[in-house]
Amino acid sequence: MRATKPDSSALPSSRRPIGEITRGTTAPQRLRRIDRWIEWRFGPLLRRSPAPTVVDLGFGATPTTTLELASRLRRHNPALLVVGIEIDPDRVRRAESYANDQTAFLLGGFEIPTLNSPHIIRALNVLRQYSVGEVAGAWASMQSRLAHNGAIVEGTCDEIGRRAAWIEISQERPISFTIAAHLPSLERPSELAARLPKALIHDNVDGTKIHAFLQECDRAWERSSPLSVYSPRQRWGAMVEQMRGQWPVITPASRARHGELSVDWSAVAP
Ligand SMILES: C[S@@+](CC[C@H](N)C(=O)[O-])C[C@H]1O[C@@H](n2cnc3c(N)ncnc32)[C@H](O)[C@@H]1O
Repeated sequence: MRATKPDSSALPSSRRPIGEITRGTTAPQRLRRIDRWIEWRFGPLLRRSPAPTVVDLGFGATPTTTLELASRLRRHNPALLVVGIEIDPDRVRRAESYANDQTAFLLGGFEIPTLNSPHIIRALNVLRQYSVGEVAGAWASMQSRLAHNGAIVEGTCDEIGRRAAWIEISQERPISFTIAAHLPSLERPSELAARLPKALIHDNVDGTKIHAFLQECDRAWERSSPLSVYSPRQRWGAMVEQMRGQWPVITPASRARHGELSVDWSAVAP
């Protein structure tokens, strides 16, 4: 059974999509770190759901990262439908020629006008261009559309996807916070400060949890420096193990080798 393919009739024409058109900057493979993490975290959910819908919100000037997400997640469930949603009608029109049986494109915003409730909403580099006061409303609107056990993955990365940070949000609440980096080019973990999601970036000042977390990562990274003669991956793995002693780390050792570190949201929440 396949998810129902959405069409523009999913959004009543009298309603304007929720949000604003912003810069459409994107790049091939920019979101690979986020996608791999989604595969790890939500692969089982996608595999056991008969016909899951996954939304890529704010795909940008071209739908490249939506198509990449679809090809990665299809491995977990061939009946999966990926819907790229954009608030800019011209970007949707241009993307439509890339639609196929398993990938569709739709005009919309934070109201997520898909016919079926999505299991995953990936919203990368979207809220960054909004004010911090708009975050809670955008999250709530997306949360109200999630399927049971579904999640929003909302965050930010650099232009080529070497530094990324994101928040996992369930129907009820934020669950986890993740940083991920291309390790050979990383000097220290606090470089990720420039890529924090909107909900955290303004909070990163002395005395806050997110500031303490990044500082502690830097110290553990420094203490692990002897391992850099083997590889930056080993150094990151040692850093994650040190952090595990003091912070609610959810990253297993097998994921640390990908340059990821996830903690419970409560550890960094403003
Ligand atoms: C910087 S681009 C990000 C593209 C892609 N997600 C990436 O990370 O490479 C942000 C895109 O989000 C779109 N956007 C902003 N707010 C939106 C909303 N509320 N709903 C849907 N799209 C939105 C903008 O029009 C823009 O094309």
